[in-house]
Amino acid sequence: MKITPSILSADFARLADEIARIPSADGVHVDVMDNHFVPNLTIGRPVVEAVMAATDHPIDVHLMIENADRWAPEYAETGAKTITFHVEASQAPVRLARELRHLGARASLGLRPATSIEPYGDLLPEFDQILIMTVEPGFGGQTFLDSMLPKIARTRALAQKHGVNLAIQVDGGVSLETIERCAQAGADVFVAGSAVFTSDDPDAMVRALAQAVAAPASLGQVLLEGGC
Ligand code: DX5
Ligand code: ZN
Repeated sequence: MKITPSILSADFARLADEIARIPSADGVHVDVMDNHFVPNLTIGRPVVEAVMAATDHPIDVHLMIENADRWAPEYAETGAKTITFHVEASQAPVRLARELRHLGARASLGLRPATSIEPYGDLLPEFDQILIMTVEPGFGGQTFLDSMLPKIARTRALAQKHGVNLAIQVDGGVSLETIERCAQAGADVFVAGSAVFTSDDPDAMVRALAQAVAAPASLGQVLLEGGC
């Protein structure tokens, strides 16, 4: 279980300071938007590189941009640990996933809420992670879509069917109120933007989110310790 806070809700004028406020995070999720794939414009490669230089946390780049085949490799070249591109923005997702892995990045495939996982079941071995959007991409602070929970569960089942050790990341509306439902459905990497950075103590929120999804494991441990 990993918590990867999104800096979309952080103070963009003080990114290094903001990231320093979340030492307990498992990574930093950086949202790149081009004002075409989504109706919002954020940052590009220079800022991703500046963020990387400002922290030891692994960087998780979420590309919400058109023409991912052209641009995603440039982000892998920054040394970011994980690159998510959207399947709706790629003409050749298998070729692109292989290129990202060749460049040393984990390859992650993003799905908008209206995109089904089923057409991509056979492609799962090409990926290290699937990002399931639990809001329409483009903005922080939106309401979690419970209607995405079955897709999370079907993605987990497909990964098991194909024997793939796949991370399933959820992004959008993740909070203390929704994170357990995501974990129960099969997600194991959690992006939280506004929940973390509008908190008075962002690191305490990161730890609370991690604790909320660690509970099932604790229960398992309790059962084991009880001799079950
Ligand atoms: C939205 C971005 C998210 C965003 C999530 O399109 O991909 O990463 O920061 O923000 P919250 O957690 O506030 O929904
Ligand atoms: Zn994101």
